[in-house]
Amino acid sequence: MANSVGIERIDAGWPSVDVDTTVPHPARVYDFWLGGKDNFAADRALAESIMQWVPVMPAKVRVNRAFLGRAVRYLAEVEGIRQFLDVGAGLPTARNTHQVAQEIEPSNRVLYVDNDPVVVAHARALMASNGPGMTGFEQADLRNPDSIMYHPAFARTLDLTQPVGVLMLAVLMLIPDDEHPYEAVSKLMTVLPPGSYLAVTHLTADVDPAGVGGLVAAAEQQGSVVVARRRAEVEEFFAGMDMITPGVVPVTSWRPEPEGEISPEDQLAGTYAYAAVGRKPR
Ligand SMILES: C[S@@+](CC[C@H](N)C(=O)[O-])C[C@H]1O[C@@H](n2cnc3c(N)ncnc32)[C@H](O)[C@@H]1O
Repeated sequence: MANSVGIERIDAGWPSVDVDTTVPHPARVYDFWLGGKDNFAADRALAESIMQWVPVMPAKVRVNRAFLGRAVRYLAEVEGIRQFLDVGAGLPTARNTHQVAQEIEPSNRVLYVDNDPVVVAHARALMASNGPGMTGFEQADLRNPDSIMYHPAFARTLDLTQPVGVLMLAVLMLIPDDEHPYEAVSKLMTVLPPGSYLAVTHLTADVDPAGVGGLVAAAEQQGSVVVARRRAEVEEFFAGMDMITPGVVPVTSWRPEPEGEISPEDQLAGTYAYAAVGRKPR
Protein backbone atom coordinates (compact mmCIF):
# COMPACT_ATOMS: atom_id res chain seq x y z
CA MET A 1 0.00 0.00 0.00
CA ALA A 2 1.50 3.39 -0.98
CA ASN A 3 1.28 6.23 1.53
CA SER A 4 0.52 9.86 0.64
CA VAL A 5 4.04 10.52 -0.63
CA GLY A 6 4.19 7.26 -2.53
CA ILE A 7 6.55 5.49 -0.13
CA GLU A 8 5.60 1.87 -0.26
CA ARG A 9 6.80 -0.88 2.03
CA ILE A 10 7.23 -3.85 -0.21
CA ASP A 11 7.08 -7.22 1.48
CA ALA A 12 6.20 -9.57 -1.35
CA GLY A 13 9.38 -10.35 -3.26
CA TRP A 14 11.09 -7.05 -2.48
CA PRO A 15 13.25 -6.67 0.60
CA SER A 16 11.81 -4.94 3.59
CA VAL A 17 13.04 -1.45 2.70
CA ASP A 18 11.16 1.70 1.79
CA VAL A 19 10.66 2.09 -1.94
CA ASP A 20 9.42 5.36 -3.44
CA THR A 21 7.32 3.93 -6.24
CA THR A 22 6.36 7.35 -7.64
CA VAL A 23 9.89 8.09 -8.86
CA PRO A 24 11.19 6.06 -11.79
CA HIS A 25 14.48 4.29 -11.16
CA PRO A 26 17.01 3.41 -13.90
CA ALA A 27 17.51 -0.18 -12.73
CA ARG A 28 13.75 -0.84 -12.69
CA VAL A 29 13.21 0.92 -16.04
CA TYR A 30 15.91 -1.39 -17.45
CA ASP A 31 14.21 -4.35 -15.82
CA PHE A 32 10.95 -3.45 -17.61
CA TRP A 33 12.71 -3.34 -20.99
CA LEU A 34 14.32 -6.70 -20.26
CA GLY A 35 10.86 -8.17 -19.65
CA GLY A 36 11.34 -8.43 -15.85
CA LYS A 37 8.79 -8.02 -13.07
CA ASP A 38 10.82 -5.78 -10.75
CA ASN A 39 9.27 -2.47 -11.82
CA PHE A 40 6.42 -0.15 -10.88
CA ALA A 41 3.97 2.15 -12.73
CA ALA A 42 6.33 5.17 -12.67
CA ASP A 43 9.14 3.03 -14.14
CA ARG A 44 6.86 1.72 -16.88
CA ALA A 45 5.58 5.25 -17.65
CA LEU A 46 9.14 6.53 -18.16
CA ALA A 47 10.10 3.43 -20.17
CA GLU A 48 7.13 3.98 -22.46
CA SER A 49 7.68 7.70 -22.92
CA ILE A 50 11.34 7.04 -23.81
CA MET A 51 10.21 4.42 -26.34
CA GLN A 52 8.19 7.08 -28.13
CA TRP A 53 11.56 8.65 -28.98
CA VAL A 54 13.69 5.51 -29.30
CA PRO A 55 11.41 2.54 -30.06
CA VAL A 56 14.31 0.07 -30.06
CA MET A 57 15.10 0.66 -26.36
CA PRO A 58 14.26 -2.92 -25.28
CA ALA A 59 16.64 -4.19 -27.97
CA LYS A 60 19.26 -1.63 -26.88
CA VAL A 61 19.13 -2.96 -23.33
CA ARG A 62 19.29 -6.53 -24.63
CA VAL A 63 22.40 -5.87 -26.76
CA ASN A 64 23.99 -4.11 -23.79
CA ARG A 65 23.55 -7.28 -21.71
CA ALA A 66 24.86 -9.39 -24.59
CA PHE A 67 28.00 -7.22 -24.57
CA LEU A 68 28.36 -7.93 -20.84
CA GLY A 69 28.46 -11.64 -21.69
CA ARG A 70 31.04 -11.23 -24.48
CA ALA A 71 33.24 -8.85 -22.50
CA VAL A 72 33.33 -10.96 -19.33
CA ARG A 73 33.94 -14.10 -21.37
CA TYR A 74 36.75 -12.38 -23.29
CA LEU A 75 38.38 -11.14 -20.08
CA ALA A 76 38.08 -14.47 -18.26
CA GLU A 77 38.85 -16.79 -21.17
CA VAL A 78 41.33 -14.86 -23.30
CA GLU A 79 42.97 -12.54 -20.76
CA GLY A 80 42.77 -14.88 -17.76
CA ILE A 81 41.03 -12.39 -15.46
CA ARG A 82 39.88 -14.11 -12.25
CA GLN A 83 38.17 -11.24 -10.40
CA PHE A 84 35.63 -8.66 -11.47
CA LEU A 85 34.22 -5.42 -10.09
CA ASP A 86 30.80 -4.62 -11.60
CA VAL A 87 29.98 -0.96 -10.85
CA GLY A 88 26.34 0.14 -11.25
CA ALA A 89 25.43 -3.52 -11.52
CA GLY A 90 21.65 -3.00 -11.46
CA LEU A 91 19.05 -5.63 -10.72
CA PRO A 92 20.05 -9.21 -11.45
CA THR A 93 18.70 -10.67 -14.64
CA ALA A 94 19.64 -13.63 -16.81
CA ARG A 95 23.39 -14.24 -17.16
CA ASN A 96 24.89 -11.89 -14.64
CA THR A 97 28.62 -11.22 -14.43
CA HIS A 98 29.42 -13.98 -11.93
CA GLN A 99 27.49 -16.58 -13.93
CA VAL A 100 29.39 -15.79 -17.13
CA ALA A 101 32.74 -15.58 -15.30
CA GLN A 102 32.20 -18.85 -13.43
CA GLU A 103 31.31 -20.74 -16.58
CA ILE A 104 34.96 -20.19 -17.50
CA GLU A 105 36.43 -20.75 -14.03
CA PRO A 106 34.14 -21.65 -11.11
CA SER A 107 36.32 -19.90 -8.53
CA ASN A 108 36.16 -16.53 -10.32
CA ARG A 109 35.07 -13.81 -7.92
CA VAL A 110 32.76 -10.85 -8.48
CA LEU A 111 32.12 -7.79 -6.35
CA TYR A 112 28.98 -5.98 -7.45
CA VAL A 113 28.34 -2.41 -6.36
CA ASP A 114 25.40 -0.08 -6.89
CA ASN A 115 24.57 3.22 -5.21
CA ASP A 116 20.90 2.43 -4.79
CA PRO A 117 20.12 0.75 -1.46
CA VAL A 118 16.91 -0.77 -2.83
CA VAL A 119 18.77 -2.35 -5.75
CA VAL A 120 21.42 -3.68 -3.36
CA ALA A 121 18.90 -5.19 -0.95
CA HIS A 122 16.80 -6.69 -3.71
CA ALA A 123 19.78 -8.01 -5.62
CA ARG A 124 21.20 -9.66 -2.50
CA ALA A 125 17.88 -11.41 -1.94
CA LEU A 126 17.67 -12.56 -5.57
CA MET A 127 21.25 -13.78 -5.68
CA ALA A 128 21.38 -15.33 -2.23
CA SER A 129 21.31 -18.82 -3.67
CA ASN A 130 24.31 -18.33 -5.93
CA GLY A 131 27.66 -20.10 -5.56
CA PRO A 132 31.00 -19.21 -3.98
CA GLY A 133 32.13 -16.79 -6.68
CA MET A 134 29.25 -14.38 -5.96
CA THR A 135 31.17 -12.77 -3.18
CA GLY A 136 29.32 -9.54 -2.65
CA PHE A 137 26.72 -6.99 -3.64
CA GLU A 138 27.49 -3.76 -1.79
CA GLN A 139 26.28 -0.20 -1.72
CA ALA A 140 28.82 2.33 -3.00
CA ASP A 141 28.74 5.35 -5.29
CA LEU A 142 30.96 5.77 -8.33
CA ARG A 143 30.74 9.56 -7.92
CA ASN A 144 32.69 9.02 -4.71
CA PRO A 145 35.25 6.35 -5.71
CA ASP A 146 36.56 6.24 -2.13
CA SER A 147 33.22 4.64 -1.18
CA ILE A 148 34.18 1.73 -3.45
CA MET A 149 37.94 1.61 -2.77
CA TYR A 150 37.58 1.86 1.00
CA HIS A 151 34.54 -0.38 1.29
CA PRO A 152 35.56 -3.33 3.49
CA ALA A 153 34.36 -5.73 0.77
CA PHE A 154 36.82 -4.24 -1.74
CA ALA A 155 40.05 -5.45 -0.13
CA ARG A 156 38.28 -8.53 1.27
CA THR A 157 37.03 -9.68 -2.14
CA LEU A 158 39.68 -8.47 -4.56
CA ASP A 159 43.32 -9.48 -4.49
CA LEU A 160 45.00 -6.18 -5.35
CA THR A 161 48.19 -7.91 -6.45
CA GLN A 162 46.27 -9.40 -9.39
CA PRO A 163 44.50 -7.64 -12.28
CA VAL A 164 40.80 -6.87 -11.95
CA GLY A 165 38.17 -6.63 -14.70
CA VAL A 166 36.06 -3.55 -14.01
CA LEU A 167 32.65 -3.19 -15.66
CA MET A 168 30.83 0.13 -15.95
CA LEU A 169 27.92 -0.71 -18.20
CA ALA A 170 25.14 1.82 -18.77
CA VAL A 171 26.14 3.68 -15.61
CA LEU A 172 28.45 6.52 -16.69
CA MET A 173 25.52 7.91 -18.71
CA LEU A 174 23.85 8.61 -15.34
CA ILE A 175 26.71 10.85 -14.16
CA PRO A 176 26.83 14.34 -15.70
CA ASP A 177 30.17 16.09 -16.23
CA ASP A 178 29.69 18.36 -13.22
CA GLU A 179 29.69 15.25 -11.02
CA HIS A 180 33.17 14.36 -12.38
CA PRO A 181 32.79 10.89 -13.94
CA TYR A 182 36.21 11.06 -15.67
CA GLU A 183 38.04 11.78 -12.42
CA ALA A 184 36.11 8.99 -10.68
CA VAL A 185 37.04 6.37 -13.29
CA SER A 186 40.65 7.46 -13.31
CA LYS A 187 40.91 7.39 -9.49
CA LEU A 188 39.41 3.92 -9.29
CA MET A 189 41.66 2.54 -12.03
CA THR A 190 44.72 4.10 -10.33
CA VAL A 191 44.41 1.82 -7.29
CA LEU A 192 44.04 -1.32 -9.40
CA PRO A 193 47.13 -3.28 -10.49
CA PRO A 194 48.68 -2.90 -13.96
CA GLY A 195 47.03 -5.24 -16.43
CA SER A 196 43.54 -4.49 -15.03
CA TYR A 197 40.75 -3.91 -17.53
CA LEU A 198 37.90 -1.44 -17.86
CA ALA A 199 34.78 -2.28 -19.91
CA VAL A 200 32.28 0.49 -20.65
CA THR A 201 28.98 0.86 -22.48
CA HIS A 202 27.58 4.34 -22.94
CA LEU A 203 24.50 5.93 -24.50
CA THR A 204 25.26 8.13 -27.51
CA ALA A 205 23.29 10.58 -29.65
CA ASP A 206 25.83 10.38 -32.49
CA VAL A 207 23.52 8.45 -34.83
CA ASP A 208 20.05 9.72 -33.82
CA PRO A 209 20.40 13.15 -32.16
CA ALA A 210 16.66 13.90 -32.33
CA GLY A 211 15.55 10.57 -30.84
CA VAL A 212 18.16 10.57 -28.08
CA GLY A 213 17.52 14.26 -27.42
CA GLY A 214 13.86 13.35 -26.84
CA LEU A 215 14.92 10.46 -24.58
CA VAL A 216 17.11 12.73 -22.46
CA ALA A 217 14.32 15.33 -22.19
CA ALA A 218 11.71 12.68 -21.29
CA ALA A 219 13.97 11.36 -18.53
CA GLU A 220 14.62 14.86 -17.24
CA GLN A 221 10.89 15.64 -17.15
CA GLN A 222 10.47 12.70 -14.80
CA GLY A 223 13.39 13.61 -12.58
CA SER A 224 16.14 11.40 -14.06
CA VAL A 225 19.43 12.72 -15.45
CA VAL A 226 20.74 10.88 -18.51
CA VAL A 227 23.78 12.02 -20.51
CA ALA A 228 24.54 10.95 -24.07
CA ARG A 229 28.24 11.19 -24.95
CA ARG A 230 30.05 11.34 -28.28
CA ARG A 231 32.49 8.67 -29.37
CA ALA A 232 35.55 10.78 -28.44
CA GLU A 233 34.05 11.51 -25.02
CA VAL A 234 33.59 7.79 -24.37
CA GLU A 235 37.19 7.16 -25.47
CA GLU A 236 38.33 9.75 -22.91
CA PHE A 237 37.28 7.39 -20.09
CA PHE A 238 40.22 5.21 -21.21
CA ALA A 239 42.86 7.98 -21.03
CA GLY A 240 46.27 6.40 -20.41
CA MET A 241 45.00 2.88 -21.15
CA ASP A 242 45.60 0.58 -24.12
CA MET A 243 42.43 -0.02 -26.12
CA ILE A 244 41.53 -3.61 -26.89
CA THR A 245 40.65 -4.13 -30.58
CA PRO A 246 38.25 -2.91 -32.02
CA GLY A 247 38.27 0.17 -29.74
CA VAL A 248 35.14 2.26 -29.15
CA VAL A 249 32.43 0.88 -31.44
CA PRO A 250 28.63 0.44 -31.57
CA VAL A 251 27.87 -2.12 -28.90
CA THR A 252 26.91 -4.93 -31.32
CA SER A 253 30.21 -4.47 -33.22
CA TRP A 254 32.44 -5.23 -30.23
CA ARG A 255 33.83 -8.71 -30.97
CA PRO A 256 30.50 -10.23 -32.13
CA GLU A 257 30.19 -14.00 -31.84
CA PRO A 258 31.60 -15.42 -35.09
CA GLU A 259 28.60 -17.73 -35.52
CA GLY A 260 26.00 -15.35 -34.07
CA GLU A 261 23.67 -13.52 -36.40
CA ILE A 262 22.64 -9.99 -35.42
CA SER A 263 19.06 -9.10 -36.34
CA PRO A 264 18.44 -5.77 -38.12
CA GLU A 265 16.62 -4.52 -34.98
CA ASP A 266 19.61 -5.34 -32.74
CA GLN A 267 21.98 -3.81 -35.29
CA LEU A 268 19.98 -0.58 -35.17
CA ALA A 269 19.71 -0.71 -31.36
CA GLY A 270 23.49 -1.15 -31.18
CA THR A 271 24.05 2.28 -32.72
CA TYR A 272 22.55 3.95 -29.62
CA ALA A 273 25.43 2.87 -27.37
CA TYR A 274 29.18 2.59 -27.64
CA ALA A 275 31.13 -0.25 -26.09
CA ALA A 276 34.84 -0.53 -25.40
CA VAL A 277 37.41 -2.39 -23.31
CA GLY A 278 40.77 -0.97 -22.30
CA ARG A 279 43.75 -2.28 -20.32
CA LYS A 280 45.84 -0.44 -17.79
CA PRO A 281 49.40 -0.76 -19.15
CA ARG A 282 51.46 -3.55 -17.59
C1 LIG B 1 20.80 1.39 -16.27
S1 LIG B 1 21.28 0.39 -14.93
C2 LIG B 1 22.52 -0.64 -15.72
C3 LIG B 1 22.68 -1.96 -15.03
C4 LIG B 1 23.78 -2.88 -15.60
N1 LIG B 1 25.11 -2.31 -15.41
C5 LIG B 1 23.57 -3.16 -17.05
O1 LIG B 1 24.30 -2.62 -17.88
O2 LIG B 1 22.63 -3.92 -17.37
C6 LIG B 1 22.31 1.53 -14.03
C7 LIG B 1 22.60 1.14 -12.58
O3 LIG B 1 23.61 2.01 -12.08
C8 LIG B 1 23.27 2.41 -10.77
N2 LIG B 1 23.92 3.71 -10.53
C9 LIG B 1 23.54 4.93 -10.96
N3 LIG B 1 24.41 5.86 -10.56
C10 LIG B 1 25.37 5.22 -9.84
C11 LIG B 1 26.52 5.65 -9.13
N4 LIG B 1 26.85 6.95 -9.10
N5 LIG B 1 27.28 4.73 -8.50
C12 LIG B 1 26.93 3.42 -8.51
N6 LIG B 1 25.83 2.95 -9.16
C13 LIG B 1 25.07 3.84 -9.81
C14 LIG B 1 21.76 2.47 -10.76
O4 LIG B 1 21.25 2.34 -9.45
C15 LIG B 1 21.41 1.29 -11.66
O5 LIG B 1 21.23 0.12 -10.91
